[in-house]
Amino acid sequence: MKNRDRRPMRSGPGGSSAGASRPGPRGGKDGAKGSAGKGREERPRSADKRPPRAEAEASSVRVAAESARALMIRTGEPPAERVPLILESPGAGDFHLIDSGEGLKLEQYGPYRIVRPEAQALWPKALPSHVWERADAIFTGDTDEDGMGRWRFPREALGETWPLSLLGIDFLGRFTSFRHVGVFPEQIAHWTWMKERVEEAGRPLKVLNLFGYTGVASLVAASAGAEVTHVDASKKAIGWARENQALSRLDRAPIRWICEDAMKFIQREERRGSRYDIILTDPPKFGRGPNGEVWQLFDHLPLMLDICRELLSPKAVGLVLTAYSIRASFYSIHELMRETMRGKGGIVESGELVIREAGLDGKTPGRALSTSLFSRWVPK
Ligand SMILES: C[S@@+](CC[C@H](N)C(=O)[O-])C[C@H]1O[C@@H](n2cnc3c(N)ncnc32)[C@H](O)[C@@H]1O
Repeated sequence: MKNRDRRPMRSGPGGSSAGASRPGPRGGKDGAKGSAGKGREERPRSADKRPPRAEAEASSVRVAAESARALMIRTGEPPAERVPLILESPGAGDFHLIDSGEGLKLEQYGPYRIVRPEAQALWPKALPSHVWERADAIFTGDTDEDGMGRWRFPREALGETWPLSLLGIDFLGRFTSFRHVGVFPEQIAHWTWMKERVEEAGRPLKVLNLFGYTGVASLVAASAGAEVTHVDASKKAIGWARENQALSRLDRAPIRWICEDAMKFIQREERRGSRYDIILTDPPKFGRGPNGEVWQLFDHLPLMLDICRELLSPKAVGLVLTAYSIRASFYSIHELMRETMRGKGGIVESGELVIREAGLDGKTPGRALSTSLFSRWVPK
C-alpha cells in the first residue's frame, strides 16, 4: 500500500486538521443542502425533479454536487439507531495484540513479535521491558500515522514476507516501509460478521469490497461462498491480493480484482444498474486513484455512501463503513449514514473498532486499544 493512502495530508486545504475545521459531514455541499434542506419533507416533489435512478421506495431530489453524479437528498424516516457499539476484535488465527503502552504496541503475527508506534497507547506498558526487547521486528521512523520509516530486526535478519492465517485465510505478511504488514486486524470484527451473513444466506451473496488492499476481506467472503468484487487503486496491492488468493487455494473462487479509483468504479456500476448484497468500504482519509484521481474523505464520503445505497440489492444484508486516522467522532459517520439511508428502514449501528490486549499467551485480556470508527447499516 502506498504511504500517501493513509498518511494525513500535510498541505492543501486544512492540512491534517481538515476534518475538524469543516462545517459538517456534507462539507462543500452545504450550500446546496442549505437551500433544499430546511423543511424538505414538506416540499412538494414534482416528477421532473426525481432522479432517474431513485429507488421505488425513496423520495429523493437532486441537489447540486461537484461530481459527475449529484448527491441526492433522502427523505423518509432515518433508520433506527444503535450507539455506541464497540466491536472488539479478539485475537484470531495468527494474530493477537500482546501489550501496548508509551506510544507503542507489541503484536504477535504468526511466528513474529512486532513493535510498532501506536499514538493511542497513552498508558504504561503492562509487560516488562525484557519482553519488548525480545521483539523480532521493530518499526522505527516517523511517528505520524503511516509515516515512512524502516524496520529493525534485533534478533536476526528477516525476509520481506512471511505466511499468516486469519479466519481460515492464508496470506502473506510483509514488512512495508510504511509500518503496515498487510492486514488490519481490527477488521476481524467486520469480517466475522460478513462471513456469518454469507454462510447463513442460502444463496451466493454479492460482496463489493472498496479500498480492498491485500484482499483478506475479499478472500474471507469468497471462502464463505460469496461472489466478490474487490476494488483498489494500487496495482501492488492487487498483485499482493492475488498472491494471497493463490496461497489460500481460492484460485477458482469468483473474485473480480479491479484496479481502479473507487468513486469512478461505483459511479459506473450505478449507471450499469449493478447491485450488491454487502458493501464494505474502508476509505483512507486521502488517497489517489490509478490515474491520479483524488480521494478526500471529508469531500467525497457523502457521495460515496449515496451511490453505495443505490448499489444495494433489494435483499441487501449490509453496508459497512470504517474510517480511521481522521479527526471526527463516530457520530459524524453515524449521522451521515442515517441521512443517506432515510426511507430504507433497518438500523444503523455505529461506534469504534477496538482490539484488546491478550498478553503473551493470547488469552489474558488487558486494555482495549481503539483503532477506528465504523458505521454500518443493516436491514432489521
Ligand atoms: C487501509 S487500506 C484498506 C484496508 C482494507 N480494508 C483491509 O482491511 O484490508 C486503504 C486502501 O485504499 C486504497 N486506495 C486509496 N485511494 C484509493 C482510491 N481513490 N480508489 C481505490 N482505492 C484507493 C489503497 O491502495 C489502500 O489499499
